[in-house]
Amino acid sequence: MKEILDKINKLKIDLNKWGHAYYVLDNPIVDDAEYDKSLNELIKLEKEYPEFLTSDSPTQKVGGVVMEKFEKYKHKLPMLSLSNAFNKEDLLNFDDQILKEIENKNYNFFVEPKIDGLSISLIYKNGNLFKGVTRGDGVYGEDVTSNVKTIKSIPLSISDKSDYVEIRGEVFLSKNEFEKINKQRQNNDEEIFANPRNAAAGTLRQLDSSIAASRKLDAFLYYFMDREKFHTHSDSLKYLEEMDFKVNKLGKICNNIEEVYNHIQFIQEQREKLDYEIDGVVIKINDFDLYEKVGYTAKSPKWAIAFKFPAEVKETKLKNIFATVGRTGRITYNASLEPVQIAGTTVQAATLHNADFIIQRDIRIGGKVKIKKAGDIIPEVISPIEDDNYLKLEKWIEDKVCPECNSDLERVEGEVDQYCINSQCPRKIVRGLEHFVSRDAMNIEGLSIKIIEKLFENNFIKNVGDIYKLNKYKNDLIKLDKMGEKSVNNLLDSIEKSKNNSFDKLFFGLGIRHVGKKTAKTLAINFKTIDKISALTFEDLEQVNDVGPIVAKSVCDWFAIKQNNDLIEALKQEKVNMTYLGNEGTKNNDKITLKSFVITGTLSKPRNHFRDLLEEYGAKVIDTVSKKTDFLLAGKEAGSKLEKAEKLGVKILTEEEFLEMIGE
Ligand code: IVH
Repeated sequence: MKEILDKINKLKIDLNKWGHAYYVLDNPIVDDAEYDKSLNELIKLEKEYPEFLTSDSPTQKVGGVVMEKFEKYKHKLPMLSLSNAFNKEDLLNFDDQILKEIENKNYNFFVEPKIDGLSISLIYKNGNLFKGVTRGDGVYGEDVTSNVKTIKSIPLSISDKSDYVEIRGEVFLSKNEFEKINKQRQNNDEEIFANPRNAAAGTLRQLDSSIAASRKLDAFLYYFMDREKFHTHSDSLKYLEEMDFKVNKLGKICNNIEEVYNHIQFIQEQREKLDYEIDGVVIKINDFDLYEKVGYTAKSPKWAIAFKFPAEVKETKLKNIFATVGRTGRITYNASLEPVQIAGTTVQAATLHNADFIIQRDIRIGGKVKIKKAGDIIPEVISPIEDDNYLKLEKWIEDKVCPECNSDLERVEGEVDQYCINSQCPRKIVRGLEHFVSRDAMNIEGLSIKIIEKLFENNFIKNVGDIYKLNKYKNDLIKLDKMGEKSVNNLLDSIEKSKNNSFDKLFFGLGIRHVGKKTAKTLAINFKTIDKISALTFEDLEQVNDVGPIVAKSVCDWFAIKQNNDLIEALKQEKVNMTYLGNEGTKNNDKITLKSFVITGTLSKPRNHFRDLLEEYGAKVIDTVSKKTDFLLAGKEAGSKLEKAEKLGVKILTEEEFLEMIGE
């Protein structure tokens, strides 16, 4: 037995060493075949002797855990974000602010790339990876440990055996891996991801961890939370490296803003060459002992700032302009472009918004255009390049008919957008179905736009009511290309489950114009059932706080259409719930529910935390104080909002009073 255990331990040590060299240092020391041979040997031994299987074994990186949902996890300390700088002046201001807090103190900065991924918090207990948690709203994140465990560059156990070690960083997908995933998705007729960050986010939130394992997520770590242990950020990074974490190599200590600025330029020059996306540079005071002195605002530390790179602008040829139809019938014009590399991805399509946008700029097919891509925003055409060739090109004229159903397009007086008003337009229906099943609406998993299109084309679904009849066609669905028994079963389960959603999700999913997620919830909280809402008059609706005449009219118009009432009847027949149940966590408190709040000043936690808390109680959080405001929640150093509230006689609550009110 001892021999077996020794063998297992040796395999683990070797595999961990080789994995670290490969995934963290990017410097393999054995070839893949040797790695795989040892891994298979270890898998075999652990199967034979399960008593020797430990949670930190390299075999545990392959995934296979399937979660029902991710649990919420409260961060020990909120995960803050950073304020932004866009130019040198902003950096000098940042420096001035620091100087104000700590006169005459010498300090330097640490300057490192801002990785464009998702922040993650890793918690190790007694040396073992205990939790991997997303940022979430900063206070509560999602426990995605099962997926984090599949990330090869994140060690399952570390040499620091303290009871609690927390390290934060960024999970990302390399540009290479991103292109690979998208190619695969394209081949499978699945929708492609817009950029590596979305792909990483989609992967980290997969309930089946073998998907995460197959997609090769990666992670840079940049924040060691126990600041007692070191005096500087740079020392803490060295420690992270010693513990086998992946730490970015482009970080550097800079002595003043001039040096900071130079290093920013240097990192920016490297940007294209890097195999991962960065969207800026983070500048931190290097000296940990100054952090508390320099302090925090409600949302972000004052000891760090993110320098955002300007959106990259490129030139390319506009090959064609084509229109698409959204679920409301709104027409969007798009450009098809000669492929061009921007910020690490190949772009061959960009939005041109609406007809006015194109006409005002006199953008012409066949000409050269400037395009930009900022963050995860869809690429956008900015302007034409008026070279010699440009004037020879024909002026563009807007479409007169819907590109999908050929019916005439309409434009409402004073609005820039054109609409297809044919209620039977196939594209509108498909987009409407896509909205209905989306996460914030009925949250039906397994109905991607591609599958919806297929079901629509094959006459399985013509409206949202038909989704609930799909269970009658199980065998036909299985035969459909790329569906398969397992995915059909999952889909039907998800559809069945959605029948019990709280009514606000259904109401939002119906896609009534101007009824967004918030409005749907407000109306659902106020009136509880669809029957009550459908019986309301325009005047009744307008009375509701936050519902203006536009929304009121839109809701009335919707219920005046027979087809829509037929749809509600059909959904009722299928036993889809039409009553507001209160979302998980929605609480009732007569003093708070449906009241309006403004939040101001510095509170003990970021404002978003209080906003979420209030919304859980069904309160409305607004930005400006008016006579209609019920309460002002005022933290320290509250300014003009507090003055205005005092003047208008709005009830003012301190944080303590507020917490008492909700009984916390
Ligand atoms: S330090 C207190 N360093 O950028 C916040 N953040 O808004 C400490 N990010 O949410 C963050 N690269 O997800 C830091 N090298 C880096 C980073 C980085 C990316 C992300 C992080 C944060 C956001 C800033």
